Amino acid sequence: MSPPIADRTERPRAEGEGAAPPALVAFRGITKIYGTGMAEVRALDGVDLTIGAGEFVAIMGPSGSGKSTCLNMIGCLDTSTSGSYRFAGVEVGTLSRNQRALLRRHYLGFVFQGYNLLKRTSALENVEMPLVYRRVPGRERRRRAHEALAAVGLQGREHHTPAELSGGQQQRVAVARAIVTAPALLLADEPTGNLDSTTSREIMDLLTELNVERGITIAMVTHEEEMATYARRIVRFLDGRIVVDRERPADRVPGGGGGLAV
Ligand SMILES: Nc1ncnc2c1ncn2[C@@H]1O[C@H](COP(=O)(O)OP(=O)(O)OP(=O)(O)O)[C@@H](O)[C@H]1O
Ligand SMILES: [Mg+2]
Repeated sequence: MSPPIADRTERPRAEGEGAAPPALVAFRGITKIYGTGMAEVRALDGVDLTIGAGEFVAIMGPSGSGKSTCLNMIGCLDTSTSGSYRFAGVEVGTLSRNQRALLRRHYLGFVFQGYNLLKRTSALENVEMPLVYRRVPGRERRRRAHEALAAVGLQGREHHTPAELSGGQQQRVAVARAIVTAPALLLADEPTGNLDSTTSREIMDLLTELNVERGITIAMVTHEEEMATYARRIVRFLDGRIVVDRERPADRVPGGGGGLAV
């Protein structure tokens, strides 16, 4: 329906690439100030951040350091006080509210700590929801929702409501809902925050597979060092600034194999 921003079937920085496409995310001097006067909070303070297609970035840092603000900014859920944000070369600050909503709908997927599923609604209908907004016809919606649920290992659970699913399964539904539109960029804010460690690892294996197998770029906020080891790059915030930005060695192979129907 929408043209991909970059060739997402390839890893970033693949050999033999010609002129590099614009980075998916390019922040230059992004500042976000909440409140005024004595109540002023500089949630982001002159942040430069570039995320290329295909990356898997973990965003870390203490509570209040600006992680969620950064993710919300990347996700066009909030606007900056100053600075430039280009998404795939497009200056987000020049877009109208509606255009930003379209950008979100077509290029971004979101996963949150609390799953944010519709309670009385089946897994299948939850996953179909973003396609309803994109006016995809019913049959095609259901086909794609089934496929997304299969991709996260939830075949046979399509008609369960959230209350009939475990926390890990609910988060899988949320991931399926985020990927059903084939987003260029998946944004996850503490996706394992409510899960036990075994289930957390399963969700991280799933995200890793989506990154490696489908080339979905991922930016994930986490408090947990172990979860950050699944990412290829770690960005650490302190007081609204990036204090560490480093690549991790590619020592981890995606978990187990065979779990994801691609
Ligand atoms: N809507 C808002 N209005 C006023 N201040 C805000 C708002 N949102 C965030 N802040 C402030 O901005 C700073 C950064 O908040 P942010 O939510 O980005 O932190 P965080 O790193 O995600 O923290 P946590 O790990 O606790 O989720 C904090 O000091 C917070 O109080
Ligand atoms: Mg937060």
